[in-house]
Amino acid sequence: MATPLFFVFFTFSLLPFPFLSLQTAFIAPIHKDHNSGLYSISVHVKTPLRPANLHLDLGGAFSWIDCYNHYNSSSYRLVKCNSPLSDSFNHRVCSSCIQAPTSICANDAIFSDVYPEKPSIRDEYVDYLNPKLTDSENVVTDVLALSTTDGSRSGLLRRISNMPFACVKTNFLRGLARNVIGLAALGRANESIPLTISAKFNSPRIFAICLSGTRLGSGVAFIGSKGPYVFSPNVDLSKSLIYTPLLFNPQSGSIYTNWLPSYEYYIGLSAIRINNEAVRFNTSLLQFEPVHGRGGAKISTSTTYALLESSIYRAFATAFMKEAAMLNFTLANAVEPFGVCFEGSSVAMTAAGPRAPVVYLEMEKGKVVWKLGGRNSMVRIKKLGVDLWCLGYVNGGEFPRTPIVIGGLQMEDHLLQFDLEKHRFGFTSSALLQGTSCSKFNFSSSDNLL
Ligand SMILES: *[C@@H]1O[C@H](CO)[C@@H](O)[C@H](O)[C@H]1NC(C)=O
Ligand SMILES: *[C@@H]1O[C@H](CO)[C@@H](O)[C@H](O)[C@H]1NC(C)=O
Ligand SMILES: *[C@@H]1O[C@H](CO)[C@@H](O)[C@H](O)[C@H]1NC(C)=O
Ligand SMILES: *[C@@H]1O[C@H](CO)[C@@H](O)[C@H](O)[C@H]1NC(C)=O
Ligand SMILES: *[C@@H]1O[C@H](CO)[C@@H](O)[C@H](O)[C@H]1NC(C)=O
Repeated sequence: MATPLFFVFFTFSLLPFPFLSLQTAFIAPIHKDHNSGLYSISVHVKTPLRPANLHLDLGGAFSWIDCYNHYNSSSYRLVKCNSPLSDSFNHRVCSSCIQAPTSICANDAIFSDVYPEKPSIRDEYVDYLNPKLTDSENVVTDVLALSTTDGSRSGLLRRISNMPFACVKTNFLRGLARNVIGLAALGRANESIPLTISAKFNSPRIFAICLSGTRLGSGVAFIGSKGPYVFSPNVDLSKSLIYTPLLFNPQSGSIYTNWLPSYEYYIGLSAIRINNEAVRFNTSLLQFEPVHGRGGAKISTSTTYALLESSIYRAFATAFMKEAAMLNFTLANAVEPFGVCFEGSSVAMTAAGPRAPVVYLEMEKGKVVWKLGGRNSMVRIKKLGVDLWCLGYVNGGEFPRTPIVIGGLQMEDHLLQFDLEKHRFGFTSSALLQGTSCSKFNFSSSDNLL
């Protein structure tokens, strides 16, 4: 009689298990490199697992990794020409080796002439007559491992097998933070890290980032999770998200994929206000132009300070200086790359950063407003007899491809959610105003494998 009971017990206890294990949320710490002002995520890669930092690229479609500097991993695989993954490349070349095949060359493996792609290329105009080509490189898959999470602390590490990467030569890393060995693509492409994870683990096609600016603690990325996003002392930032549609540039800005929409994230900015002062600029600059994909207001982690097209910058700086004068800020000689700086002693500090004019980014005709205080608008420059607070919005030139690029400084200590199911962008008010910050996620647990 004991046997059927035993059987029944196991049937019931095992049944829910596949459902529990399917939807998995992951997290990774986000570090800021204070020399370059760029961000990277800390992950594990390869077999056996090794820690690695990858440049955080919100708009990237395809991740890449240095394959030429002692790459040693038993789970490294070249992607073959007839594999399902190869179909996701609009441009691919089947390669054969000139000499005997090695770990970085196999016959019948795919070479991509689209990726690796440097983030900066998407801010340039494509010159169709004289296109800038990327190095053609192999496409490989290998293991990526991230910590799982319940939204409030880090859990065990879990392997994600067959994550696609383009190989790069070591010198391709130039211009990125010194400790990175590749790039983590978070763009709206099926091969990006969040969408690959969501597909493998049946998790929501939603990820969030919370960038930290301090040297005291890292920020965090949540992948495959709509929340909770809990920061010490028990503040769930998912509860205060405000949403606006995510927009996509109809023109990707790449020589190979120019007929496809962009993988980057844009928001429908309709106006900018500084305190009660409207920043007067030609809003038709923001409309997408179909040939080169000029226009739009983009969210980018590859620029430290917001970039504004010259005429927008001049109007913005004028309005900011007018409001700053009312706070008795004293203008000082500006230092590169900034155009406007104030004497440090004339700017008062609060718990949430310098007391500065407030910048309001308005979407949907003012129905949705993203409020940015001094912590997200001003940069302290303190060195050898200089003590300044500078305006962290920079002149992006006369005819940039993207007239408004919202940069890292603007995003720090706001939780930002990219919801690719509902095609919407969620943002919170500054975490500092909610008694926490992006550096207060509990990463206490060790790197044990699940
Ligand atoms: C690669 O790693 C394996 C196992 O960790 C080791 O036995 C082997 O010597 C390594 N090879 C190289 C070229 O470093
Ligand atoms: C991306 O994945 C989605 C959902 O799995 C699928 O519907 C879509 O066709 C894919 N897009 C491309 C370009 O392969
Ligand atoms: C506004 O910008 C558009 C697009 O660049 C341009 O065609 C138009 O002439 C500009 N209008 C003014 C008043 O400058
Ligand atoms: C600015 O300075 C004026 C004159 O010294 C003073 O009356 C005013 O209160 C100051 N304003 C602020 C915001 O500190
Ligand atoms: C962080 O999480 C660990 C368990 O993973 C817990 O023991 C610790 O108390 C937490 N720390 C805070 C500050 O909540």
